[in-house]
Amino acid sequence: MNSDFYNHIAKRMAYFSTIKNSAKLLVVTQDNNETTVNLNVEGVETVRISHADLERCYDKTNASFSSQIVSGSFDAIYLDEAFIETSIYLALYRKLAWGGYLFTISPELLRHVGSTVSSELGLDAVPSTEIYTGGEIIKSAWLESRVIDRYDYIPKGLENPHLVELFDTLMVANPMPIKWPYLRKNSPHIWRVDSRCNERVVGVLSTEEGAVLYALAKLFAGKRVLEIGCHFGFSTAHLAKAQVILDVIDPRLSDPFQQNCVKSSLNLVTDKEYRLWPGFSPGLVAPIATANAEPWSMAFIDGDHDGEAPSLDAIEVMKYMADDAVIVFHDMHSPFVYAGFEQCRAAGWNVLVYNSMQGLGIAYRGNVTLPKLVEDISMPSFKVPAEFIA
Ligand SMILES: C[S@@+](CC[C@H](N)C(=O)[O-])C[C@H]1O[C@@H](n2cnc3c(N)ncnc32)[C@H](O)[C@@H]1O
Repeated sequence: MNSDFYNHIAKRMAYFSTIKNSAKLLVVTQDNNETTVNLNVEGVETVRISHADLERCYDKTNASFSSQIVSGSFDAIYLDEAFIETSIYLALYRKLAWGGYLFTISPELLRHVGSTVSSELGLDAVPSTEIYTGGEIIKSAWLESRVIDRYDYIPKGLENPHLVELFDTLMVANPMPIKWPYLRKNSPHIWRVDSRCNERVVGVLSTEEGAVLYALAKLFAGKRVLEIGCHFGFSTAHLAKAQVILDVIDPRLSDPFQQNCVKSSLNLVTDKEYRLWPGFSPGLVAPIATANAEPWSMAFIDGDHDGEAPSLDAIEVMKYMADDAVIVFHDMHSPFVYAGFEQCRAAGWNVLVYNSMQGLGIAYRGNVTLPKLVEDISMPSFKVPAEFIA
């Protein structure tokens, strides 16, 4: 069972070795048994030490290690589940390079190291939230200097709609220079932007968020769905591929080029009806809703993220939803979006926060059974914006 976790570590090490030409891993185990962890990766210098030897060479006064084995810094450190003294964890953690990983198979140890590092060193050490076969902490106080092995993640059990392949205009982008404070730069998932957008940097759904959106939309095939904020139609295509009937609101649809881009993508994935509405929510919501014979069974809100806008969207959209319905919010890391989501909770909807790259808020009511959603264990834990903690 642990082999998945060891493969995961080996993958991270291989990445370090590729981008830095060398990588160093320290393996600390109870008995220094070489077979405990099979982590031999080409280009990676793996050094091993037992707990007993580590403790023996530890100088508590200077918080340093006298053994040559533990000299220099490490790109990653693996600790087995046995406990060693707290001050040794801290000294070990200091030996991690910025952006380095601390891996352990033990969730208890992971939490312990995470909280000790945060409280004693004042560093941002965010352990993975759910641990199945193992977890990791990234030394991430200086985000700008971090090296992140980013990857696409599709939750276990969900279908990959493979729409990244359809949008060959999407580019993998570096989130680090982006000024928007709610972009989650320490997510290990790939962040993409559409190269057809000339105005400013606008991110689209991660592949994981796309897969979740697609899975939710499939619950409502043949029913009406509203999207607020389509950009170049990447999220829209996920909804359309689920064969729902779409209403899409975005002021950018008044640009004929952008509207044509959205149309051509949608035409590739659906033959169901869709209507593109150039303009703004929440103003457009009521006129569109009242012109429809049926209420919306699903809404996806990814439009104006600032100030009261997400709350106003939520309040307006809720008025026109079916009894059995789902409302999905993107960018739950923004307190403004979170506030919109809270409107649904306050109105009696069931709510779930899904810990994806930017966070999905899922509000649902009536006869709706959500698919099983398995978060990535490597995603830093989701922090509810402070304003919402009583
Ligand atoms: C982050 S982008 C959406 C990305 C898209 N959902 C995706 O993942 O492919 C936000 C979009 O919301 C649109 N927008 C901004 N204010 C809006 C409003 N009041 N009503 C509807 N759309 C709005 C912007 O024009 C932009 O296209």
